[in-house]
Amino acid sequence: MSGPLPRSLLPDTAAVDDTGRLAIGGVDVLELVERFGTPLFVYDEEHLRARCREAVAAFGPGVAYATKAFLTTAMARLAHEEGMQLDVATGGELAIALRAGVPPADLVFHGNNKSSAELAAALDAPVGRIVVDSFDELDRIEALVAEGREAPRVLVRVNPGVEAHTHRFLQTGVTDSKFGFPLLGGDAERALARATASPAMELVGIHAHIGSQVFDVASFERAVAALAPFVAAHDLEEFSVGGGLGVAYVVGETAPTITEWATAVRRAVAEAGLDVAVLAEPGRAIVAGAAITCYRVGTIKEIPGVRTYVAVDGGMSDNPRPVLYGSGYEAFLPRATDAPRPRRVRIVGKHCESGDVIVDEAMVPEDLAVGDVLATPVTGAYGHSMGSNYNMVLRPPVVFVRDGRARLVVRRETVDDLLARDLGG
Ligand code: LLP
Repeated sequence: MSGPLPRSLLPDTAAVDDTGRLAIGGVDVLELVERFGTPLFVYDEEHLRARCREAVAAFGPGVAYATKAFLTTAMARLAHEEGMQLDVATGGELAIALRAGVPPADLVFHGNNKSSAELAAALDAPVGRIVVDSFDELDRIEALVAEGREAPRVLVRVNPGVEAHTHRFLQTGVTDSKFGFPLLGGDAERALARATASPAMELVGIHAHIGSQVFDVASFERAVAALAPFVAAHDLEEFSVGGGLGVAYVVGETAPTITEWATAVRRAVAEAGLDVAVLAEPGRAIVAGAAITCYRVGTIKEIPGVRTYVAVDGGMSDNPRPVLYGSGYEAFLPRATDAPRPRRVRIVGKHCESGDVIVDEAMVPEDLAVGDVLATPVTGAYGHSMGSNYNMVLRPPVVFVRDGRARLVVRRETVDDLLARDLGG
């Protein structure tokens, strides 16, 4: 527990010099902090590209990056350049992907409660596929097509009733879920029958997403087995297993690779005797490990016999995952990347909440001091994308590094940004 940060938790191109300083993408991290300030998201572009290429090699060209994990126009472009389609789940994500220049045919549109306006935008694009989630949505699509729009290609989202081994909030494949048509009770069957019969859509496949941060590929195999008879009965061309592959965040965790995940899923599909295109939508597995977040330590409070609090200049506004899911992270000092970490502290943010914790029980180097730059690895997924302005904290910039160069892809938020929608009336 008190050892140095395992290199496996750092982005692919991480390198440490003789003095212990960390570089990513050939750029010294502390120099990045000098230039862009803290908090700062640093993404290893090679790492992102390598995971996209792995996904395409493992699943084929229909594999989509789930943009909810991390979306900027640079990220959308990068994933598409590497051959991925994009999964977008709201009108906002759709707009960003289109603004990035991703061809609409390479977009898959999701959402459990798509509005008519969102569906109209998807149909007008027109996106390559819509994953239908409810009977009301089927009604809306029919109404929009009746107005003269082209019939979309659709997948029906089926809830297989499979319990993935993950946090309760991250499970989506259990029958008691707001997502998809449950197998249990026949709704899935009714939705497929309706989509097949409707001239307002072309049914191409079924979709199931069982949850997120799933470590055990057997959960996906169970979902495939549960849905296989269904896919066979309807002679569908496409079977999407959604996203959900877990990643290692802390010492001692290991996760299957994208390739191992794809191999298990494909094997399960073959064992079920299906001849379909297997699709998937990884989000976290593409981006989580690619980034670190850099903070500045502002104050250290030692409560003798109780604990030590190390407060940094960000918090739940740039990483709400510890608060929401009790998620664990590691911490280290980019000035002494490989230093032993014997000191146990609680790393907290600057928000006016006791729950504003970044790492509940962090092991850090003995000499950690006020003014240090402290970093948390594996923060590339669901940090920036779930960030907020709580306490009117300014959201951090995002920097991509590659081949010794840094490019700012999202600038730091300003007070003018905070005021931009405040009409003062
Ligand atoms: N496809 C669908 C339909 C999804 O709902 C999701 C995630 C994905 C793909 C991508 O899942 P991934 O490969 O990233 O696990 N905020 C939570 C995760 C919520 C995931 C929601 N849906 C977290 O920070 O852990």
